[in-house]
Amino acid sequence: MFIQAAGALKAYLEQRRLAGATHVPLRAGMLDRLRAAREKADLRKREVRRLVEEQPAFEKARPAPMPEPPLPPAAAPSGGPGLIEVPGVTKAEKLAALAALAENAPEARALGTLRETMVFATGSPDAEIMLVGEAPGAEEERLREPFVGPAGQKLTGILKAMGLERAQVYISNICKFRPSLPNQGGSNRAPTPEEMRACRPFILTEIEIVRPKVIVALGATAMQGLGLQGAVSSMRGRFHEVGGIPLMVTWHPSYILREERNSGGQAFAAKRQVWEDMLKVMEKCGMAVSARQRGYFQNKG
Ligand code: URA
Repeated sequence: MFIQAAGALKAYLEQRRLAGATHVPLRAGMLDRLRAAREKADLRKREVRRLVEEQPAFEKARPAPMPEPPLPPAAAPSGGPGLIEVPGVTKAEKLAALAALAENAPEARALGTLRETMVFATGSPDAEIMLVGEAPGAEEERLREPFVGPAGQKLTGILKAMGLERAQVYISNICKFRPSLPNQGGSNRAPTPEEMRACRPFILTEIEIVRPKVIVALGATAMQGLGLQGAVSSMRGRFHEVGGIPLMVTWHPSYILREERNSGGQAFAAKRQVWEDMLKVMEKCGMAVSARQRGYFQNKG
């Protein structure tokens, strides 16, 4: 009501301004009525904001359908915020609720350094393998799906070699928005620590909902976003842990692409190491590894 009346008043004032008026007469008491209506609208806005901010506490009051073990503190590194409470019974429902909250993630939005479009995750909520990258790039933003650009095609190829379709795994990113750059065009950048911190509750909550058998951190940024420190070269090849779930660190597919472009680079070594890491992931999940898969890189190089 107030919004409609305010809109009509604004249009009227604009009309008068264009006609050269600098003052308009107001009936007695009109100013007070406008002020009162404005206060009421502000009060309503504040109430809605309060309800949104208090949503986790509100959700907490509901009986949880199936309590799942919380992530131990190591999963929320350096005192970062914890998990987000979401409604829903099935994993798919909970992930959908979480994605809806991520759309307006206030902390991430407040930074002003991330782009508008949210790119959440893709794949199966029941997946045994969860792959985590850093942030969406131009193609991911366009299609609103993680890992669909050149690095994504490389990742899809690796999964195929493991005998997996994209739909059988869960693919996500630490940061849910493409980090912005001036005159961005098709350029992408890695998220900053602040951007990762602002989005971290989402990826930690995804881990808690999906509870895969194994998590794979693709590259240093993903690894750091999940709370591990060190160089990929020294962290890869063995299992770490996030929230009680085994975590494998391996090279980001972009690194392989970069080395492939750089003749004389480390492309072969990187591909072999990623493959060794993925064989360990397959074994950890109880997947059968064929002789062909095992010997894939043995007679090459
Ligand atoms: N690189 C990432 O880390 N994530 C994507 O979704 C795409 C490229």
